[in-house]
Amino acid sequence: MYNFIFNVDTKVLFGRGQIDKLGEEIKKYSNNVLLVYGGGSIKKNGIYDATLKTLSDNNIEVFEILGVDPNPRIETVREGVGICKKNNIGAVLAVGGGSSIDCAKVISAGTKYDGDAWDIVLNNKLITSALPVFSVLTLSATGSEMNGNAVISNMSQNLKLGTRSPLLIPKASVLNPEYTFSVPKHQTSAGVADIMSHTFENYFTNEKGVYLQERFAESILKTCIHYGPIAYNEPENYDARANMMWASSWAINGLISAGSSNNWSVHPMEHELSAFYDITHGVGLAILTPAWMKYVLDDSTVDKFVEYGINVWEIDSSLDKYEIANLAIEKTKNFFCNDLHIPCSLREVGIDEEYLDIMAKQAVRGGKLQGYKELDENDVKNIYINCL
Ligand code: NZQ
Ligand code: ZN
Repeated sequence: MYNFIFNVDTKVLFGRGQIDKLGEEIKKYSNNVLLVYGGGSIKKNGIYDATLKTLSDNNIEVFEILGVDPNPRIETVREGVGICKKNNIGAVLAVGGGSSIDCAKVISAGTKYDGDAWDIVLNNKLITSALPVFSVLTLSATGSEMNGNAVISNMSQNLKLGTRSPLLIPKASVLNPEYTFSVPKHQTSAGVADIMSHTFENYFTNEKGVYLQERFAESILKTCIHYGPIAYNEPENYDARANMMWASSWAINGLISAGSSNNWSVHPMEHELSAFYDITHGVGLAILTPAWMKYVLDDSTVDKFVEYGINVWEIDSSLDKYEIANLAIEKTKNFFCNDLHIPCSLREVGIDEEYLDIMAKQAVRGGKLQGYKELDENDVKNIYINCL
């Protein structure tokens, strides 16, 4: 296990009615706030009104930027930075899913940066200061509510890139499972796939001494397998929504990656799909993941897939190891396609051969993917082809 620092100081306000406490958390830092949100779902389900109430109860002046797109755009970030600088705003509050939270994070750092906000997406070392970030989570998926990551798209250049800084970790996040009751079914299942993918990216590691982290990861995967379909079929099942929400935060807040290598494989491949086709992140991951698993399965990786099959899917351990591994991969695919009703192929989401070469090239722009198994441009293209 490598050395690590684990310091996630997000105050989590979890459960019904907890939003009432948010205003006083923000007030510790600022008398005004930029509210960042998306296409307006928060106005239909009462979350917007509850947010304004806690802010007004604490005499916090509110500025707004709305219309953050799923796969948030750098143009929206620039607009938010402009509002913050002009009005001397002291805090940023995202109300929404990962897109609104990520957008808020880069606005917060962009406000403290003299140049163009795209610079800090390209180079996170330029993030040396940021406004305090807060979030009210409305979709369980990205874990952005409890980490310092942000992913921003520059569609004119077909680029979707991540940046990160401990300065972007939210100071407080409201996690009320009821706020996810209104999430559409296809976004619910995409969120489950995203949580599982964050877990897989850490679980499939070559680092040997991270036993505890692996068991945490298996618990998160089992939670998704148990509660994901319940949340899909019964949107107002509180326990299902609550467990998915908590799983979302812990899959990618550093707990299961602690002490291990941090190189991911499927996310860099998916970000190219979103950058070129603007598809839902979790859908891309669900299509790619089983194909990636199949592609990397060989004598050097099979034991890990056996561990996954037995511990997560409870496959009979007396079977042959390749039988267990292949069954585990098949169960993963069936779970996404049949239990969560996510499209199973790239063609189903409108992706064909046209940009496979350029997407594969861009996926390895920083060098071969150094995840569980090294992947070069040709490997990435083969995986895309296997998903068509
Ligand atoms: O625009 P609004 O009105 O908010 O509607 C959203 C949007 O249409 C809707 N929605 C959210 N909560 C809802 C709701 N509709 C009804 N009721 C609710 N309670 O769902 C749609 C998708 O929202 P979005 O925020 O885009 O989804 P998600 O949370 O999956 O975020 C996706 C973005 O996060 C990035 C992805 O790449 C993508 O850009 N990621 C961020 C990460 C991070 N910060 O750590 C890691 C992830 O791997 C991921 O890359
Ligand atoms: Zn993700």
